[in-house]
Amino acid sequence: MKDPIIAPSILSADFYDVRTAVQTIESSGCSWLHLDVMDGQFVPPITFGSKMVADIRKKTSLFMDVHLMITEPERHIHSFVESGADAITFHSEACIHSHRLVQGIRHAGIKAGVSIVPSTPVSAIVHLLEFVDQVLVMTVNPGYGGQKLLPFCLGKIDELREIRARNGLNFLIAIDGGINLSTIPEIAVHKPDVLIMGSAFFNAQDTKLFVANAFDAWRHTVAKFE
Ligand code: DX5
Ligand code: ZN
Repeated sequence: MKDPIIAPSILSADFYDVRTAVQTIESSGCSWLHLDVMDGQFVPPITFGSKMVADIRKKTSLFMDVHLMITEPERHIHSFVESGADAITFHSEACIHSHRLVQGIRHAGIKAGVSIVPSTPVSAIVHLLEFVDQVLVMTVNPGYGGQKLLPFCLGKIDELREIRARNGLNFLIAIDGGINLSTIPEIAVHKPDVLIMGSAFFNAQDTKLFVANAFDAWRHTVAKFE
């Protein structure tokens, strides 16, 4: 069983000092950077838009994983494609013509992801699974960092893995919300591919050590099942 990808989310960084946050992710050894775009409608807070993504893009070669928590994402895809994002994930609940949107993102040469909030079942996105590069399972209600993991969402990872294996698909399964050193053992049992971490990563005194401890916690759990 391979290690998961750890994708630190700059939502929990100090927005006055984004440069240091990006450098901290780079020096921690992680290769992904998760960017939470919120519009004040799909979720209550407003964070940042495509200019922030574009400005960071100029300074880093991290894989930039944009998570759009916005209504009508199709209206903004062009600017996020132009921003230099490597992957764009939108919410199934926010988009009517989701298949068209996935095709549009991939046509632009970028990886396409679809996300579901805790109240949305996997069945709502089954038709998209053969077209997407990533499925992002929210394990908290989106909008804020530092919330508690909702364990009832974890079963969706198993459903997705089962559908993926049965149909010979290869999308990644990412989970987002409430992931920290204490919850990694209960998460690792379900074997997602990507762990998105905001507050746990940025609250760590030593992020390199934090990442090493996260992999240790993961391997320790996975070893029991192999
Ligand atoms: C929340 C965002 C998450 C957030 C996770 O809606 O999508 O990416 O940064 O934060 P933690 O890891 O603190 O739960
Ligand atoms: Zn996110």
